Amino acid sequence: PLVTLAEVLQEADAKGYAVGAFNCNNMEIVQAIIGAAEAEGAPVIIQASQGAIKYAGLQYITSLVRTAAAGTRVPVVLHLDHGTDFEQVLRCLRAGFTSVMIDGSKYPLEENIALTRQVVEIAHAIGASVEGELGRIGGTEDHVSVSEREATMTVPEEAARFVAETGVDALAVAIGTAHGRYKGKPQLDFERLAAIDGLINTPIVLHGSSGVPDEDIRRAVALGVRKINIDTDIRIVFVEAMRRALADNPEEIDPRKVLGPARDAATSVIRHKMRVFGSAGRL
Ligand code: G3H
Ligand code: 13P
Ligand code: ZN
Ligand code: NA
Repeated sequence: PLVTLAEVLQEADAKGYAVGAFNCNNMEIVQAIIGAAEAEGAPVIIQASQGAIKYAGLQYITSLVRTAAAGTRVPVVLHLDHGTDFEQVLRCLRAGFTSVMIDGSKYPLEENIALTRQVVEIAHAIGASVEGELGRIGGTEDHVSVSEREATMTVPEEAARFVAETGVDALAVAIGTAHGRYKGKPQLDFERLAAIDGLINTPIVLHGSSGVPDEDIRRAVALGVRKINIDTDIRIVFVEAMRRALADNPEEIDPRKVLGPARDAATSVIRHKMRVFGSAGRL
């Protein structure tokens, strides 16, 4: 069934694990996410970015995930990833998303709080959940120095104020992860994460989690991370499997012979993540 983010994170918080939030762009990825969740007995968050909605269409994304959720015992959250456009957030809520992220991280603190609080009022009125972001989670291609990166990280005292004044159901923090493929090994600021967790009761979200070593993920979960976003690691295995299928069978013209192996590869990587996050076997 379709459930809210608040519901799955409350359960995760009580039991001390994290729920995977996997980005989807098409039917095969939605099926891979649901297939993995069923195989592992794990609650799951399926999220669509504004780019995914632009690519697939809001009604297609909504229908795919609703269909998947209706046919499974797995609790499924349909979540907007990095909503930056207020109108887009409203369109998603109207379409039936059970959760939205309002990413006001590019604004000064006061404006981020005001925008986020406005979304919380609307979403909560209709029974949907909201994730906010404080601190700036950049891309791996952003060339920033150590001190510049430090300046973008979440300030624990500001996090306490942000959750108190907005009422968000989950808070995305910047502690050293980045979106996309890492060049070296990511350096997570675990002290900062512990400080944030010590000041807030709101579940913490880790973005840019592809490429973060399993042991670092486990440590972050132990320190209070309850939602973990994965996109790049799915993209990598999905497209690699397509390339392999095409290279192995240059005469192949059946899309199912190319996309089927990609779907299987995505299912495997998602199943592994669920075991690392501790969400496997919770149903
Ligand atoms: O945070 C970024 C996600 O990986 C979504 O990426 O905007 O290319 O769909 P996208
Ligand atoms: P990755 O692509 O680095 O896994 O980040 C995903 C993400 O944070 C989506 O919001
Ligand atoms: Zn993100
Ligand atoms: Na990443």
